[in-house]
Amino acid sequence: MELSGNTVLITGGATGIGFAVADRLIKLGNTCIVCGRRLDRLEEARKRIPGLNIIQCDISKEEQRNALFEWIDANFKEMNVLVNNAGIQRKINLAEGMADIEKNEDEIEINLRSQIYLAARFIPMLRRRAKAAIINVSSGLGFVPMAAFPIYSATKAAIHSFTMSLRQQLKGTSISVFEVIPPTVHDTELKGKPIPKSDYSISAAEMADAIIAGLRNDQYEIAAGASKGWISASREELDRFFSGINDH
Ligand SMILES: NC(=O)c1ccc[n+]([C@@H]2O[C@H](COP(=O)([O-])OP(=O)(O)OC[C@H]3O[C@@H](n4cnc5c(N)ncnc54)[C@H](OP(=O)(O)O)[C@@H]3O)[C@@H](O)[C@H]2O)c1
Repeated sequence: MELSGNTVLITGGATGIGFAVADRLIKLGNTCIVCGRRLDRLEEARKRIPGLNIIQCDISKEEQRNALFEWIDANFKEMNVLVNNAGIQRKINLAEGMADIEKNEDEIEINLRSQIYLAARFIPMLRRRAKAAIINVSSGLGFVPMAAFPIYSATKAAIHSFTMSLRQQLKGTSISVFEVIPPTVHDTELKGKPIPKSDYSISAAEMADAIIAGLRNDQYEIAAGASKGWISASREELDRFFSGINDH
């Protein structure tokens, strides 16, 4: 896809991978809007990236998703790219029954349902653009689940499946559909704070560079680092990777 002159909404773009992508897209001559729940993070992002547009929105709340759409329609009529990037990851131990599920935020709502509804909400608008894109962020854990994050992994597998169907349904329209499949990215807020760098992790900046290169080359599934091997692995290899990350 053409990487300048777009108007791009990045959900969860005040931090981490979304922030690094917004930074690059603005430098390439695009207009960027980021949303998130925490105003302090949004304001900090705007300070760090001059020209960044921010709006507070919890995408898991239907009325806030609708308000976001109306605000974009009123202020950024030319929006042509939606990046479904916002997500959370929670440790859930199902051996404890309902306890962990009840004390944690709803990953299915944030990671899956919101992305589907946002795509559906924006598609009629995007179809009116000559060129448009929907970019869904899944995860390597959608291909090889990590048992400590069972719901997270399942939502990411579902995002992969949904993205394939969406791409098929939008074939022949102005909307291209991309999937971004990060490996472990060590310096984001997904796990609350940055985690130690490892042989299997990359930085948000490296992931953002891979995303920009993948979009530029119309690579519809953009993986990086360890995810590259995971998305093309055989069933036997997937089982080996699963044991590798889960059997301790
Ligand atoms: N880091 C990794 O290892 C990794 C690996 C594979 C895939 N990913 C995926 O990459 C994407 C970005 O994650 P990241 O690693 O960059 O982590 P991050 O820094 O925590 O970014 C996630 C962003 O989503 C926002 N968000 C969460 N819930 C939201 C909601 N209900 N409404 C609006 N915004 C919301 C957060 O801001 P607020 O809390 O302020 O709302 C945050 O800015 C996620 O989809 C994640 O699953 C990450």
